[in-house]
Amino acid sequence: MSSSRIIWSLDHERGEKACFFRRYRMEKEQAAGVNILVTGGAGYVGSHVVEELLKTKKHNIVVLDNLQKGHREAVVGGEFVEGDLADTDLLDQVFAEHSIEAVVHLAADSLVGESVEHPDKYFRNNVTNGLNLLDAMVRHGARYMVFSSTAAVYGEPIETPIREDHPQQPTNPYGESKLFFEKIMARYDKAYGLRYMSLRYFNAAGASPSGAIGEDHRPESHLIPIIIQAALGQRECVTIFGTDYDTPDGTCIRDYIHVTDLAAAHVLALDALAQGADSNVYNLGNGAGFSVREVIDMVEKVVGRHINRIEGERRPGDPAVLVASSQRIMAELGWEPKYHDLETIVQTAWDWHRKHPQGFGS
Ligand code: UFG
Repeated sequence: MSSSRIIWSLDHERGEKACFFRRYRMEKEQAAGVNILVTGGAGYVGSHVVEELLKTKKHNIVVLDNLQKGHREAVVGGEFVEGDLADTDLLDQVFAEHSIEAVVHLAADSLVGESVEHPDKYFRNNVTNGLNLLDAMVRHGARYMVFSSTAAVYGEPIETPIREDHPQQPTNPYGESKLFFEKIMARYDKAYGLRYMSLRYFNAAGASPSGAIGEDHRPESHLIPIIIQAALGQRECVTIFGTDYDTPDGTCIRDYIHVTDLAAAHVLALDALAQGADSNVYNLGNGAGFSVREVIDMVEKVVGRHINRIEGERRPGDPAVLVASSQRIMAELGWEPKYHDLETIVQTAWDWHRKHPQGFGS
């Protein structure tokens, strides 16, 4: 055997051994579960992510939330820690005490309009505090993160449905802060081997079919809960923000995705990372667009009540149409939405709101 052949077979053997140990460690990890920190786990999407993670019955979950917008009652399991990502001592304590190995990072400010008025708040909370978290992960040897990103990274679309490689030109500080963080994660992966999956949500909507948790923002700014509040008599009418868009009925078109389907994608992303998947970015939507008028019509149909609507001015920063292509996550992680039709999405929202007319604590 020539010397180059011997070297090849030694390398090959080492490679096989490395593969074997990597596979062995991953299988062990899969079986034993992982210690996962969920930041923002008391929020709307975060609480549904926690619920889906608990269903796997294999992971140990620690929820960190400052409760500025989240609700303690929304955390249906795991260990709860009240605190902020600005508190680096607390982060060190949580990572050390719970031997955190992976993170689902949802804690953020997420209102487009507010981000235009207070960009400082958005860059501080979504970027600087996120850096504290990444640095804690590096210090404590946590290996991967699933990140809550947004369709707002794309800005005004030039092609629909939007794919992940669509140009990213956010039109507001919120989208910009999320895009900055995606870039930071890519750099941390290169420098420190910290892998990530960034999930770019389109319009999260609906409530858990379990009936335990739902959407409760104070004040509410999202379309479906606002229409439901009108149906419940908690507001007189719904204002349609703009009727002169270049769409078939003149109102904005959005891609509504059930929050439980969204949450399930986080579990798939975590599993893929545990199995050694490379970092990636995925859109999450249903690929179907509905106008504001169509959404109001659907809520009327589901609740069986007339809802007053008035036509108002455009809301600054609203693109006319936002519809996702989610082919990448379907093909690569096997994600399949279970509650993709708008009627089911609205029905689950209605079921939760009528049982919790004042939100959590009703
Ligand atoms: N809308 C109304 N009246 C209302 C509330 C909303 O007409 O009272 C319209 C909005 O103008 C928009 C659509 O309904 O066209 C949906 O609005 P939402 O506020 O429910 O959701 P957005 O599309 O503004 O926001 C979502 C996410 C953000 C993300 C954004 C990306 O919630 O986190 O998509 O553009 F940044």
